[in-house]
Amino acid sequence: MTLPPWHGQQALSGAAYSAVELDEDDRRVYVLDQRLLPLEERYRICTDVAGVVTSIGDMVVRGAPAIGITAAYGMVVAAGDGVTLEAADYLSHLHGVGATLMASRPTAVNLAWAVQQGLALASQHRQEPGTERWQQMAAWARQIHRDDVAACRQLGQIGAACLGDKTTVLTHCNTGALATGGYGTALGVIRAAWEANKDVQVYACETRPYLQGARLTAWELHRDGIPVTVISDSMVGHCMSQGRIDAVVVGADRVAKNGDVANKIGTYGIACLAKLHDIPLYVAVPWSTVDLATPTGADIRLEERDPIELTQFAGQRLTPAGVAAYNPAFDITPARLIEALVTEKGALDPRGLDRGGC
Ligand code: MRU
Repeated sequence: MTLPPWHGQQALSGAAYSAVELDEDDRRVYVLDQRLLPLEERYRICTDVAGVVTSIGDMVVRGAPAIGITAAYGMVVAAGDGVTLEAADYLSHLHGVGATLMASRPTAVNLAWAVQQGLALASQHRQEPGTERWQQMAAWARQIHRDDVAACRQLGQIGAACLGDKTTVLTHCNTGALATGGYGTALGVIRAAWEANKDVQVYACETRPYLQGARLTAWELHRDGIPVTVISDSMVGHCMSQGRIDAVVVGADRVAKNGDVANKIGTYGIACLAKLHDIPLYVAVPWSTVDLATPTGADIRLEERDPIELTQFAGQRLTPAGVAAYNPAFDITPARLIEALVTEKGALDPRGLDRGGC
């Protein structure tokens, strides 16, 4: 394990590990290399914007809130690079960096949300001395990190209240401390239920092809002592038909104004099965994932990733050479399949966002 300098001190994640942290000198971004988990706990140190961008694009760090925070720390590094620049050059430098960060992964709105906030801050302080602009950017980025952890804790409690005292929850992908500033969204709901002494069992879908469920969700829950059973994605219908699942709780990368939700590929299928079996599906998100500027799910750009993630595993070919593969990373779950959108502002009817949300 490569230990980061803040190890053993109070990391902003509030956990023994962090998806991302900014070093105290505001120059280095530490990202836990999630591609290596659960076999190895190693941090990648990003000392420049290019390192931050590739960490997001290559999924060293992933999960909507976590990549938003990582992008914010990328803006801090950019502000540090630009301390000697005049106001206009500083702004154009940050706009260039912001555009590159936003292009690194398109679906999670948290990334664009963080970059837009960073740019607004840069514009507000552009005439100030470079070191002050840099400090302000670092203070803002750390604050959105803290706010995300607080939002996750709050929505976790709200979501936990929706679950029974003895409950078996199915979840998809990874939505825990690894996917957020700390604590988690759907896993935050599960953690809060566990902390409230509910008898919680979890089924974690393995989440082909990147295996966020099998590798990351299982790793997080197991180290917290929360009972978790991994199933393959194709077992969901069977488990539901056997009466093994009481509720489904997932996260999201973007919630459109009409309540449609983009989340990890496979969520739509799980939602259809849940509806068929009369099992409630909760989508847990911080408000930073709600995008009222995007009218419907059909307007959300869904990332398509390299087919190699599907055709190979650990460098070994799985499919015959020359056979095509299609690798969409996300799908859309329509609002009508969602029981409630669990946010730090409350458990909302997703179909009510059109009418002004909460
Ligand atoms: O491709 P990933 O691993 O970044 O996808 C992550 C998800 O789909 C999560 O469910 C979503 O970001 C919510 S994380 C709190």
